Amino acid sequence: MRKTPTLDQHLNVSDKNITSVSREKRVFKPTAEFQRQANLGSMAAYKKLHAESVNAPETFWKRMATEHIVWRKPFKKVLQWKAPQAKWFVGGALNVSENCLDRHLGTARENKAAIIFEGEPGDVRTITYKQLHLHVCRLAHVFENLGVGKGDRVAIYLPMIPEAMIAMLACARVGAIHTVIFGGFSPEAVKDRINDCQAKLVITADGGWRRGKIIELKSAVDKALPACPSVQACLVVKRTAHEIKMTEGRDIWWHDAWKGGPNFHKAKAFDSEHPLFILYTSGSTGKPKGVLHSSAGYLLGAKLSSHYIFDLKETDRYFCSADIGWITGHSYVVYGLLSNGSTVFLYEGAPNQPEPDRFWEMIDRHSLTILYTAPTAIRAFMRWGDNYVLKHRLDSLRLLGSVGEPISAEAWQWYHKMIGKGRCPIVDTWWQTETGSIMIAPIPGVTPCKPGSATLPFFGVSIKVVDESGKEVPRGTGGKLVITKPWPSMLRTLWNDAPRFKQAYFSEFPKHPDWYFTGDGAQQDKDGYFWIVGRIDDVLNISGHRIGTAEVESALGSHPAVAEAAAVGKPDELKGQALVVFVSLKNGIQATDELKEQLRAYVGKEIGSFAKPDQIRIAAALPKTRSGKIMRRILKQIAVGGEVKGDTSTLEDFSVIAALQSED
Ligand code: WTA
Repeated sequence: MRKTPTLDQHLNVSDKNITSVSREKRVFKPTAEFQRQANLGSMAAYKKLHAESVNAPETFWKRMATEHIVWRKPFKKVLQWKAPQAKWFVGGALNVSENCLDRHLGTARENKAAIIFEGEPGDVRTITYKQLHLHVCRLAHVFENLGVGKGDRVAIYLPMIPEAMIAMLACARVGAIHTVIFGGFSPEAVKDRINDCQAKLVITADGGWRRGKIIELKSAVDKALPACPSVQACLVVKRTAHEIKMTEGRDIWWHDAWKGGPNFHKAKAFDSEHPLFILYTSGSTGKPKGVLHSSAGYLLGAKLSSHYIFDLKETDRYFCSADIGWITGHSYVVYGLLSNGSTVFLYEGAPNQPEPDRFWEMIDRHSLTILYTAPTAIRAFMRWGDNYVLKHRLDSLRLLGSVGEPISAEAWQWYHKMIGKGRCPIVDTWWQTETGSIMIAPIPGVTPCKPGSATLPFFGVSIKVVDESGKEVPRGTGGKLVITKPWPSMLRTLWNDAPRFKQAYFSEFPKHPDWYFTGDGAQQDKDGYFWIVGRIDDVLNISGHRIGTAEVESALGSHPAVAEAAAVGKPDELKGQALVVFVSLKNGIQATDELKEQLRAYVGKEIGSFAKPDQIRIAAALPKTRSGKIMRRILKQIAVGGEVKGDTSTLEDFSVIAALQSED
C-alpha cells in the first residue's frame, strides 16, 4: 500500500488551488426572510448545540437518538469506543425501514408523496408513503421466499427508478445488507463487487434510459454472473421493455415475484449495530474498499443532517441529482429524506436530455423546492449557457446544495445568482462515503457563507487541520483534515478487511490511534471556516466520482501491451480533475494512436466508462526512485505541463523526464 504523500509534496502541485479558494473575500449573509422560517433560528443556537455536541457528546446523542429514532428496544449505552471500533446506541434495536415508512402511516404523511419519479422519456409516477410501504412489504416477502434474510448480501444494479429505493428499503426490512452498484460500472466491476461480498441475490433491470439510449444493465449482469457462484437468484425489473435474455432457474421478473402473497410485512427488530449496507469506494490500492455502515448511528446521522442542513419542511419537494449508486444517493435520496417524511423527486436520466434545460424545466413543472447537486454538474450548466436557465422561472426553489468536490467561487456565484436568483442559500456540504453523513456545512438561515468554503462543522463533529505530527496548524495554513472523535454515522469497518480499515483510516498519526484521517487536505481561515483543498492520497475526484489511481493502474496492468502504468490527476475546468495515465509498453510494441484508444477503451471495460483516462501518454520508461517507486509527484508536474521542480536525484534514469515531457 502506498504511503500518503507528505503535505509538501502535495501542496507543491496544488498550491494554485489553495490560493484560488482563498481569494474570494465576500461573505453572503442569510436573508432575513429565510432566517425567520429556518429550522435552527440563530448563530447562538448553532453554537450552543454544537458546543454541547462536542463537549458532552453522549448527552447530546442520547437526546437526538431518543427524539429522532423509532426504537423497538431502547439502547442502554450511547457509545462504546475502542479505536477503531465504535458501537453506538449499544443494546438498542430498531428497523430502519420502519423508521422510513411505518412511522409515517396513520399520520398526515400517509398519503403524501414519498417519491415523485420522472423517467428520462418523460413518464411520471407518484408513490405515496402508504404505497411505498406496500411495495416494500411485498418485496420483503419475496426476499424471504427466496431465502434472503438477516445478514445476507443483496447486490442492487438498477437505474434511478423507484424500484432502487424499494429494493434498498426491503433489504433493511428483512435485515439483508445491500450493496448498490452504480449503473455505470462494467460487468467486470460488478463481478468483483458481488464476489467480494458474496451476494446471494442480484436485483437489476432490463435496462435504463440515458441520453435517449438504453443502458444494458441485464446483459452486463449476464456477463458477470457465470463467475459469481454465490448468486442464487436475479430479480429483473422491466423498465425499458426491450428484448433481454432470462436464464431459467435463476432470473425472475420483479413483477411476477410477489404472486399475490401478503401485503403486510411485519418488520423485525435488529440491533443498533446490525450492518445496513456495504458501499464500494476507491482507495489507494487497486481493490475497492467495501465501506460498511450499520443501522442506528447511520440513520440518525442521515436524518439529523437532512433536517438541519436542508432545513426540511413538510411542504418541500426535494431533488438530489446524485445516483443511488453513490453515498449521496443512499443518505440524501433514501434514508435521510424518507426518515424525515419528505417528498423526494427522483430523475432517471441525463441533465441535457432532450435539451440542456431538463433540470430547470422539471423544477418548474414539479414545483421543486430544494436542489442538491455537484459542482461538476454546475460547471456543465455554466458551459451550456445562461439562456437555458433564463427560459424558466425557478421560483419554487428555496435552497441549493453542493457536494462532491470543492466548488469554485465562480461556480458558487453563478449557482447563487442564476439558479438561486440571489434568494436561495447554498449549502456546500463536505463529507465522504466513510462519514455516512454531512460533516461540514453551513446551517441555512444561520451561517454566513463564503463561496468555496463548506464553512463550519455539523453537530457532533470534532474536526481539525493538523501537520504531519498531528499538531494543529495555525489558521490560514494548509494541513491534513482529521476527525478526532467518533460520530454515529461513521463507517464501522471495511468488508472482509479489518486490517485495511485500521491502516487506511486510523494509522496516519501513530500518537493518535483514535483519530480518523480523511485523506483530504484543508485549511481553516481566521473565522474557523474550513476550505477543502482535495484529496492528498492517491484518489482522484473526476466529475465528482472517486477513482483510485491504483485501480486504473491495475486495470491497465492486465492489458497485454502494457509493461507499467501510472495514473495521475490534472486540474480540469469541467471535470474538476482529469485522468492522465503514463504507460510504458512491453518490448517490441509500437506506440500508436490506435493503441492509446484501445487502452482507454480497456479501462472503460474493466471499470466503467466514467473511469476512461482523458489522456494516455506513452513513455519509454517511468521515472522511479532507486527503490523502484514510481515518482508520481514528477508525473503530476509533467501532466499539468509544468516544470519539474524539487529534488530529482533519486531518479533512476534522468533521460526519462525529458522523454516524457517531449512526448505528445
Ligand atoms: C470530496 C461524496 C470539497 C473530498 C459525498 C472527499 C468535497 C471526497 C466536498 C469524498 C465538498 C466531497 N467540498 N470536497 N463539499 N464533498 N468532497 O466518498 O475530497 O464520493 O474526501 O463522498 O469528495 O467522496 P465520496
